[in-house]
Amino acid sequence: MVKIAIFASGSGTNFDNIMKKIASGALKHIEVTGLYTDKPDASCVALAREHQVEVYAYEPKHYASKKAFEAAICQQLKQDQVEWIVLAGFMRLIGETLLQAYENRILNIHPSLLPKYKGKHAVEQALNSGETMTGTTVHFVDAGMDTGKVIAQRQCPIYPDDCVSELEQRIKTLEYELYPEVIQKIIQ
Ligand code: GRF
Repeated sequence: MVKIAIFASGSGTNFDNIMKKIASGALKHIEVTGLYTDKPDASCVALAREHQVEVYAYEPKHYASKKAFEAAICQQLKQDQVEWIVLAGFMRLIGETLLQAYENRILNIHPSLLPKYKGKHAVEQALNSGETMTGTTVHFVDAGMDTGKVIAQRQCPIYPDDCVSELEQRIKTLEYELYPEVIQKIIQ
């Protein structure tokens, strides 16, 4: 078994999907040691409880610095012998403490065809760009925002009458296939 930790800040549907793939046997030899969040009230926490996954909530406001915040997270990760970190809607830049401890062992999924549309408004920016295709990207995490080495991408169309939520949902449908596939390949 390879131990992974999933980090999320929001709705947690990618996390939920990964847990379901593990439960169904579609994703093998992977154990999720915990759901790490900076938002203890987020929906991802309720989903973790449903899946009986341990929740580790770390709120930056309780720490003197980013370094102290990440050191606390790191201590728990090490205690649980976590080998990989999987970001699934974790809305914070990863800092040097975690990057050094997990060099080339942090994955992220982003709702655009990187290097296009980095950051929080990727879906909206793609929609407003006038382009006809967008998609999702799984990449290694480095110190930048959505700048690490691309591992895999999948594309979907943008339709002229799309609204942001429709396009977001179309992209997430791709993510639910792509992320488990990449996790299986890379992590094992
Ligand atoms: C996904 O679209 C992912 O690409 C981005 O954040 C979103 C998380 O969604 N990084 P969810 O919380 O998994 O529903």
